[in-house]
Amino acid sequence: MSRNRRPAPPSDYSAGNRFDEISQMLRVDHAGEMAAVEIYRAQRKVFANTNNLSGIDMILAKQEAEEIAHKKTFDQILVERGIRPTILEPIWKPAAQLLGYTTAFMGEKAAHACTAAVEEVIEEHYLEQEDRLADDDSLKPIITKFRLEESEHRDDAIENGAEDAFGYPILSAIIKTGCKIAIFLSHKI
Ligand SMILES: [Fe+2]
Ligand SMILES: [Fe+2]
Repeated sequence: MSRNRRPAPPSDYSAGNRFDEISQMLRVDHAGEMAAVEIYRAQRKVFANTNNLSGIDMILAKQEAEEIAHKKTFDQILVERGIRPTILEPIWKPAAQLLGYTTAFMGEKAAHACTAAVEEVIEEHYLEQEDRLADDDSLKPIITKFRLEESEHRDDAIENGAEDAFGYPILSAIIKTGCKIAIFLSHKI
């Protein structure tokens, strides 16, 4: 009887692959949002001691609050789906803080330049995920919402002088490369 049984449908295999693919995506997203919270938090600590006439703290506070909400969402999703965070988080956290402190000490425009660079990479990253999640009604709307908020963060940063930061092209290229390396590594480990 068992001889006539059909082999297991290939969907078992693809379902496993799909789970791995989505786990990797969510692992990267969780790490990215954690890093974003740390960057803005570090920058705000620096600007807390300035007269803040330009209102940069208000901008950073709004961005930080949205990053906290993004991170909380991924905290919850990872727990619900039994996905472990990347083992690199203990490295990304201080790296993100260093990036936040350094750019804030360089001045308001450099802080905005950091935001513009990071958010541009994240926006592209989420856009690519939306394509890959086209058939996923639970995750795709979340990613779309977050991408639109990241895009707003980038626009606000540019509106507030990001591109006028000293050495903007180099600063931006270094930060973007760092983000892309972090994304690549966090996928796997
Ligand atoms: Fe975010
Ligand atoms: Fe953001």
